[in-house]
Amino acid sequence: MDTNEPIIEISHLKKSFGDNQVLKGIDFTLSKNETVVVLGKSGCGKSILIKCIVGLVKPDSGLLKVLGKNIFELNQHQLDMIREKIGFVFQNSALYDSMTVRENLEFPLRKHNKKKSLAEVNELVKEALINVGLLDAINMMPSELSGGMRKRVGLARSLILKPEIMLYDEPTTGLDPITAKEITGLMLKMQKKYNISSIVISHDMTCARLTANRMLVLIDGIFYAQGTFDELQKSPDEKIHAFFE
Ligand SMILES: Nc1ncnc2c1ncn2[C@@H]1O[C@H](COP(=O)(O)OP(=O)(O)O)[C@@H](O)[C@H]1O
Ligand SMILES: [Mg+2]
Repeated sequence: MDTNEPIIEISHLKKSFGDNQVLKGIDFTLSKNETVVVLGKSGCGKSILIKCIVGLVKPDSGLLKVLGKNIFELNQHQLDMIREKIGFVFQNSALYDSMTVRENLEFPLRKHNKKKSLAEVNELVKEALINVGLLDAINMMPSELSGGMRKRVGLARSLILKPEIMLYDEPTTGLDPITAKEITGLMLKMQKKYNISSIVISHDMTCARLTANRMLVLIDGIFYAQGTFDELQKSPDEKIHAFFE
């Protein structure tokens, strides 16, 4: 891949469900080491956009390149190779309830069929848990963890393969403000440590302010506005201002 090539490149991307035109022409690039925060009302298509990027939802038309590859022209093996480079944090943290924390973290290593020795796997799991300050929870079940701890385990799991790209879908929603700030702090720390390029979907303005290099506002199926946090906060446009109230 050309080093100047965007990490993610999207143009004229459209997606409808029946009569519901959700994405009406998305144009967007994510550059290396950049963190872009996407703002948008509930139901406006933010999660669908993320799902298009990881190849879980097929857009109706438009171009979508991830790490220089047009993902809808890839076979399953090639798609898996790209997905390995993408970490994904879901809103509900999506841990496997019947597995311990350790097993949850080992899961991506097994899924991607990494030929790693037991010692290497142990080392990666340990590193991942130390990163999020939860080594003590290694043998616990998800049901024994608080919401914030589950979130941290989810974050550790999504980082275990050292992804080049992180996609965060409402990473702090449902958490109290202090825990939300802790998660935001961990996101920042990890992004620096591993040189990650990220898309963050968030309504949490503290999280947005601290993580965003650039922000995009999704309204009526297009990116209606973009700018830094300060630029958008100062915008006289009511539609944009509404997010900052
Ligand atoms: N699999 C699906 N089938 C039909 N409609 C869907 C599907 N997934 C999402 N939608 C619709 O697409 C729109 C955008 O959803 P979503 O991206 O989840 O919104 P949000 O911005 O809250 O993340 C919503 O109107 C939702 O009902
Ligand atoms: Mg969503």
